[in-house]
Amino acid sequence: MSVWGIVVAAGRGERAGLGRNKVFFPLHGRSVLSRCVDALAASGQFDGLVLVIAAADEAAYRELIGREGENPLVRRVVTGGDCRRRSVYNGLRALPEGVEIVAVHDAARPFVSPEVVRATVEAARESGSGVISTPVTDTVKRVRPDGTVETLDRASLRAVQTPQAFGFARLMAAHERAEAESWEVTDDAALFERLYGSVRLVTAPGAEVNRKLTTKSDFEEFRRPAFRVGTGYDVHRLREGRKLILCGVDVPHEKGLDGHSDADVAVHALMDALLGALGEGDIGRHFPDSDPAYAGISSMKLLNAVMQIVAARGFRVANADVTIVAQRPKLAGWIPQMRKNLADALGTDAVNVKATTTERLGFEGEQLGISAQAVALLEEV
Ligand code: CTP
Ligand code: MG
Repeated sequence: MSVWGIVVAAGRGERAGLGRNKVFFPLHGRSVLSRCVDALAASGQFDGLVLVIAAADEAAYRELIGREGENPLVRRVVTGGDCRRRSVYNGLRALPEGVEIVAVHDAARPFVSPEVVRATVEAARESGSGVISTPVTDTVKRVRPDGTVETLDRASLRAVQTPQAFGFARLMAAHERAEAESWEVTDDAALFERLYGSVRLVTAPGAEVNRKLTTKSDFEEFRRPAFRVGTGYDVHRLREGRKLILCGVDVPHEKGLDGHSDADVAVHALMDALLGALGEGDIGRHFPDSDPAYAGISSMKLLNAVMQIVAARGFRVANADVTIVAQRPKLAGWIPQMRKNLADALGTDAVNVKATTTERLGFEGEQLGISAQAVALLEEV
């Protein structure tokens, strides 16, 4: 007996709020869709699978199989419709001649067990339909149109999932009718019940974890935030007649740092670390010193602009560490204020500022200039 599966993946996944179709989302490194197809294939029940993909996801699907491979049991990939029912219908029409049993499964249920698949297919073989279901554990109430509430008898209720397996000819006939009469249904069993009276519900080990990934919280436990690290380094020359601004603090000293802006060498190194982490080049690219708009500007303002780029790219600062290399003046007393300025700008308290001398060696030791280094770690929000 020829048994095929249809995997519907052509929704938009709007409720998951991931900014793309949820079935492409990686769960610990492998997409919902690939996991789902592999799970169906591993059940050993199918001669072939038809995959239904939204027109808008064609490129994403090609990319996905380039990365994750395509299960050889996937024999056809067809375009979905504007509702789930139409997507299933497109899948049915793509089946080869001679299919006797067809099981429809949501791509959004990647945890389907072999026992669950087998139970539905066997029921369909025996009695024309097999729909996986579980007892309801919550008390379910019906809210009437006038707002009053009635309690349903829990013992008689079942929650229904996919896979849902049927004799092909009858399911196809039900879909033809539904298409002609524009029935609105949320699963295939509803079509079948409407035309033929009822379906057979089955349960099997694994049904309790065969949940549909639907809302943002369903994906929360699988989210692995991306981290990006960047480093920055900057040097400015010391000269008389300039203020010495470090991390936004005006440090009293007989000399200050020379530069186009306020020459806050520490903030410059930090901004380069942030931009580096994002792969956004450096501050010279974003705030060219040929641009008069940046003449004498407070580097803390530029840091705020860089933080807007960080946020726009979907990241936040996990932590940052800045080292100022200066022989003089002694900076220890100013460091708490510097740290606070940066913490305010970066939106996190995980900021460290430290200062060191170079034992009078090199340009910092000879007090010709001050250098700064920074490391920043960004975390995807
Ligand atoms: N589906 C489909 N074609 C549609 C709508 C839904 O193939 N036009 C598929 C989904 O890809 C999913 C399954 O039907 O695998 C169950 O639907 P649902 O959980 O509602 O997914 P989405 O419609 O994608 O999500 P949402 O309703 O939140 O937008
Ligand atoms: Mg939907």
